[in-house]
Amino acid sequence: MAPTLSGFLMSSSTAWALCVLVLVVEPHFAYSSSRGSFVLNKGLVSTPTDGICASSVTIYGYKCQELQVTTQDGYILSLQRIPEGRYGGGDHVGKKQPVLIQHGILVDGMTWLLNPPEQDLPLILADNGFDVWIANTRGTRFSRRHTSLDPINPRFWNWSWDELVTFDLPAVFDFIYSQTGQKVDYVGHSLGTLIALASFSEGRLVDKVKSAAMLSPIAYLSHMNTALGVIAAKAFLGEITTLFGLAEFDPKGLSVTNFLKSLCDNPGVDCYDLLSALTGKNCCLNSSTVDLFLMNEPQATSTKTLVHLAQTVRDRVLERYNYGRPDYNLLHYGEFFPPVYNLSNIPHDLPLFLSYGGQDALSDPRDVGLLLDALKFHDVDKLTVQFVNDYGHADFIMGVNAKDIVYRSVVSFFKHHI
Ligand SMILES: *[C@@H]1O[C@H](CO)[C@@H](O)[C@H](O)[C@H]1NC(C)=O
Ligand SMILES: *[C@@H]1O[C@H](CO)[C@@H](O)[C@H](O)[C@H]1NC(C)=O
Ligand SMILES: *[C@@H]1O[C@H](CO)[C@@H](O)[C@H](O)[C@H]1NC(C)=O
Repeated sequence: MAPTLSGFLMSSSTAWALCVLVLVVEPHFAYSSSRGSFVLNKGLVSTPTDGICASSVTIYGYKCQELQVTTQDGYILSLQRIPEGRYGGGDHVGKKQPVLIQHGILVDGMTWLLNPPEQDLPLILADNGFDVWIANTRGTRFSRRHTSLDPINPRFWNWSWDELVTFDLPAVFDFIYSQTGQKVDYVGHSLGTLIALASFSEGRLVDKVKSAAMLSPIAYLSHMNTALGVIAAKAFLGEITTLFGLAEFDPKGLSVTNFLKSLCDNPGVDCYDLLSALTGKNCCLNSSTVDLFLMNEPQATSTKTLVHLAQTVRDRVLERYNYGRPDYNLLHYGEFFPPVYNLSNIPHDLPLFLSYGGQDALSDPRDVGLLLDALKFHDVDKLTVQFVNDYGHADFIMGVNAKDIVYRSVVSFFKHHI
């Protein structure tokens, strides 16, 4: 019982924290078997020392380079580049269009490479003539280095998603731009959409981005209101900072597991049912892929990022990290309240593609509605919206039919806006 419960709790941690873990397609095979294997494998799950290229790209016959980028605040991020399709560049003389793929929270770049190769977005883009770059956010297993701080030092974890906007994205964009001399296409999923939208709204990156595809876009979180979600969000606003400090949030660690168990003990919280309620009913996951996912994810993030997201749920606006006291905010921002990210300020002529799912409980369609409302002055010919009724949160990165339903549209969107 205990191992099963902890396996389950790993899953729910991912779930309510806006990740992508979804085990609910076919509880009879996908969920229960994955849950079992995750627990059994737990001690054995290792960080592939070879890195993402060797484990998930070159084995399929693609070229792949492991690269690293240092952010202005000292984090050393890993980055993979797949410069051409499986059958090479041929006599293609022109420069290839770079595209950056940015994962969501509590996962890393490998999350895009877990299906058979012909179904994986990065490889599909490479085969369609793109120069593909895969990002790995600070704190995930291949991006846990810093010029002076060690991950065991809590100060390594003193950042929220604001720093992904301010430091991680610009470092990666600048690097790709400097290497290729070209503007970059962007694909984000979940938190990977939030940080890009926030950046664009402040006028960051807009001189280096060509167009952007947002899968399961997250900006507003007002409708993420199931019992566990609300309790978790409350916890992150209150006791969690005394429990974890502003330190690492390691979903595989004991303190996080115990914390989640205590949440699930709350009256009215039935974690088993909530799991499907929270992640959304993913229609189209492959159980082998889910197993692989559970062997590789979830990844750590900072507690401060989860607190920041909980503030987004609570405050119903998109703003910078709230230090919780007017005088502290004044100290950091020169204002009593955190500055707002006003999405209406995203340049109206930036080509945007939004794809969202009818069954997505994290990027709830009503919240996507709020996002679309903020974009109502966007140039009509620069905004493409796709609604996939059957899709939950994880179908966008792992769905067996995502290549036909979503990725094909992403490719033609990028090719249309040259
Ligand atoms: C599911 O994944 C396995 C292992 O990669 C693969 O052999 C199988 O063809 C996949 N099924 C579908 C429907 O794509
Ligand atoms: C965390 O970073 C903030 C600035 O973002 C700084 O004011 C604060 O002192 C830092 N806390 C620690 C413990 O280093
Ligand atoms: C965002 O900006 C738009 C115009 O650029 C303005 O009408 C709106 O009031 C702003 N919203 C917030 C929350 O500041």
